[in-house]
Amino acid sequence: MIRYENIAVTFDGRSILRNFDLTIRTGEKVIIRGKSGRGKTTLLNLLLGFVRPDEGQVILDGIKITPETIWSVRTRLAFVGQSVDLGKGKVRELLEQIFDYDVNRPHKPTESGIHRLFEQFDLDPDKLDKDFGDLSGGEKQRVGIILAILLKRKVYLLDEVTSALDKTLKEKVIRYFLSDCPETVIAISHDKGWETAGGVRIIDLGEL
Ligand SMILES: Nc1ncnc2c1ncn2[C@@H]1O[C@H](COP(=O)(O)OP(=O)(O)OP(=O)(O)O)[C@@H](O)[C@H]1O
Ligand SMILES: [Mg+2]
Repeated sequence: MIRYENIAVTFDGRSILRNFDLTIRTGEKVIIRGKSGRGKTTLLNLLLGFVRPDEGQVILDGIKITPETIWSVRTRLAFVGQSVDLGKGKVRELLEQIFDYDVNRPHKPTESGIHRLFEQFDLDPDKLDKDFGDLSGGEKQRVGIILAILLKRKVYLLDEVTSALDKTLKEKVIRYFLSDCPETVIAISHDKGWETAGGVRIIDLGEL
């Protein structure tokens, strides 16, 4: 369960969030929408500990997010942004490096597990041997999504993750996160496909 309690965030004297409360149940699928600059990404950054609230608190599974708890909190979260950058090197090597970290090692995927996901999202497994930097924007986005899935975290934070994908791929990604996956999903998207899926809760931050 995720709780935003009485959150206030101010940037450069400008109030972005005030008295903001939101409770998200485990397994819930939440779509955040609202005008550009309204504070959607800030909501994810509060959970990731990249933004600290001026007032209020954010709690994940009973743990209040503080500088002391943030490292363990982050091991429960998988964030995917609009542009994915895994660094320099071959896709396979970059994935291997990520699963060499102690926290990720228990989830080290098998070659066939990786192939299955690549095929699920229409990526040729040959791409594993390409330099990450040479992939297209849509391919990078899908590698980011696949990595997030492989990490087997408890909560997915998705910030415009279908922006570079065509209609068919968008539908696949949306179906995966909103229907097939049992985990908690918080997705920000301007794409109506996310909102019209069944069983989702829409949080509208509205205008400024
Ligand atoms: N770390 C920061 N320091 C200063 N200002 C910030 C910071 N993070 C966000 N802002 C400002 O706060 C406002 C909300 O930003 P945020 O990124 O949450 O908006 P958003 O709703 O995600 O917008 P978009 O749809 O364009 O991505 C913006 O005006 C942004 O410039
Ligand atoms: Mg944003």
